Amino acid sequence: MHHEPKNSSLSSAAAQNGVLFGTALCTSDLLSQRSTRAILRDCSIITPEFELKWDAVCRSQGNLDYSAADKLIAFASDHALAVHGHTLWWHEAVPPSFDKSSDQQFRDAALDHLTRTVARYDGQLRSWDVVNEPVEPDHGRSDGLRETRFLAAFGPDYIETAFREAALWDPKALLVLNEMGLEYDSPAAERKRRQMLTLLEREKARGTPIACLGLQSHLTALEQPRDHPELRAFLREVRAMGLSVMITEMDVSDHLCPRDRRQRDAIVAETYRTYLDLVLEEAEVLAVSTWGLSDDRTWLNGFRPRTDGAPQRPLLFDRAIRRKPAWHEVRGVLLNARQDGARSSGHRIGTD
Ligand code: XIL
Repeated sequence: MHHEPKNSSLSSAAAQNGVLFGTALCTSDLLSQRSTRAILRDCSIITPEFELKWDAVCRSQGNLDYSAADKLIAFASDHALAVHGHTLWWHEAVPPSFDKSSDQQFRDAALDHLTRTVARYDGQLRSWDVVNEPVEPDHGRSDGLRETRFLAAFGPDYIETAFREAALWDPKALLVLNEMGLEYDSPAAERKRRQMLTLLEREKARGTPIACLGLQSHLTALEQPRDHPELRAFLREVRAMGLSVMITEMDVSDHLCPRDRRQRDAIVAETYRTYLDLVLEEAEVLAVSTWGLSDDRTWLNGFRPRTDGAPQRPLLFDRAIRRKPAWHEVRGVLLNARQDGARSSGHRIGTD
């Protein structure tokens, strides 16, 4: 058992096992002293929640605005925090001005955005979500790829194209393929895991420089199973491919939980503990990030509102930025993680 001061920070607990702990944030979070203090105390990596996305940077035809992203990256640099870039190509963050563009115009614009953005921050970001949410079994393709503008315009090679371009413009950044829903316990999720493995094998065979698989980890309390053999098996196969893992957007929706706050907080805390324990046991985890620091910032009130109208309590800090039971459970797991493998050097598949 490690002898840590009682209230050691999440980042120092994580660092015991070579893991970074962080959160998604936006520039408005930095206006709050309490949030900023908590971020500086507990985080060693930050992720721009939306201000580095294509539709946030590309305001209107040709007018590019990186000012908010620049602020977040300057804040990280001023405080020696790592930055996880989110995200270069995501079907839900394409600027509306390209809705009517031809495939050729879209290809030029998407490549221009990717190369310009990666080159702008070359050497300043530890990692990038290069492609976000590429797999969708319900779209019925044999390769499981989601039908997006990127697929329509570039064809199925768009993933290789994106990763090779990103590696060209920032040779040191860890390049991540980020996905949601791989963590769930359902036949659909198992199909998605199988298709993700096939995709990763295919990309590895063609030399695509993917270093890491991002698990968004948007969990649902009372749905996420305590143990999860299929997820364990999946993570072992990912590890056998030489891929590390980042938990990129973890939160635990309490929309199925009773209203009572104490009960909800306890169920949410237990969900964090069992999930994080499993992933840290089975995968080479480089970083663990929550999708927001405190309950007053969660996107889930919009995405997954409770039917009783009570605000969601999915994160590690409450609305007054006080630590919740989930904070203590996550710290305990980070402190005692059994990461027995050698720390991954960010090995990229396809380059061996
Ligand atoms: C969400 C942000 O939290 C919201 O503020 C924004 O309006 C929409 O996007 N998966 C992702 C994230 O990869 O980019 C999404 O973030 C949440 C789901």
